[in-house]
Amino acid sequence: MSAAQGELLTVDGVVAGYGAAEQILKGTSLKVAPGEIVSIIGPNGAGKSTLLKTIAGLVQARDGTIRLKGGDVTRENALGRAKAGIGFVPQERNVFGAMTVAENLEISGFQEPGKVGARAEELYARYPMLAEKRKALARTLSGGQRQILAMAMGLMNAPALLLLDEPTAGLSPKAADELFDAIVALNKGGLPILMVEQHALEALQISTRGYVLVSGRNSREGAGPALATDPEIRRLFLGG
Ligand SMILES: Nc1ncnc2c1ncn2[C@@H]1O[C@H](COP(=O)(O)OP(=O)(O)O)[C@@H](O)[C@H]1O
Ligand SMILES: [Mg+2]
Repeated sequence: MSAAQGELLTVDGVVAGYGAAEQILKGTSLKVAPGEIVSIIGPNGAGKSTLLKTIAGLVQARDGTIRLKGGDVTRENALGRAKAGIGFVPQERNVFGAMTVAENLEISGFQEPGKVGARAEELYARYPMLAEKRKALARTLSGGQRQILAMAMGLMNAPALLLLDEPTAGLSPKAADELFDAIVALNKGGLPILMVEQHALEALQISTRGYVLVSGRNSREGAGPALATDPEIRRLFLGG
């Protein structure tokens, strides 16, 4: 088996941005292999969210390639990427507050409408809190509950890879720990995960591998726990 066949996601030299000229990603590369949790860390404004959006097809790459399971998806739009198996949970506004938990799940299962009922039941079994709250409006959930709902929405299309943008942002330390536990449990069930995290050291500790992104360029990369104990990384992210 060639290396490429053993890779789930391959991002190679991606250039992307928002305005006509401005480049945010300046030739970024990364890989996710089956079974991995991979974390992207880096300073504010480094382009981490832009990278996830470019992988999800919400921002178009101007150069470079994005491959999923060996297939080139660089020119696919967001729907095409979702069909190819990329699930994306954005950092903000990731649930519909005026809709119930059940409705949020239903509208998220757009790929296979015939499977919506069964998928929602699976998710209620996995996350009993969602079952208890299925008739509650999403805006009444706590921050941690809302992130579980957002993640469950991302699972409604049974993705091959789940992208999470700062899943623990704004959560209490206890809620953040619980969410990290939920992420690890999902991954142990076989789902590869690529996440951006501000809680960099905690994220690296549960990650197979990590990448440090600085100013739209790859900086450091390595095994998650090794990066988490690396003095330079600790100085950057603990300010010590
Ligand atoms: N929708 C947008 N339009 C224009 N510029 C944007 C947009 N979103 C982000 N940016 C800019 O892109 C850069 C990287 O942002 P982002 O990817 O959100 O960084 P990070 O997630 O690492 O904090 C920042 O300079 C930000 O201001
Ligand atoms: Mg961001």
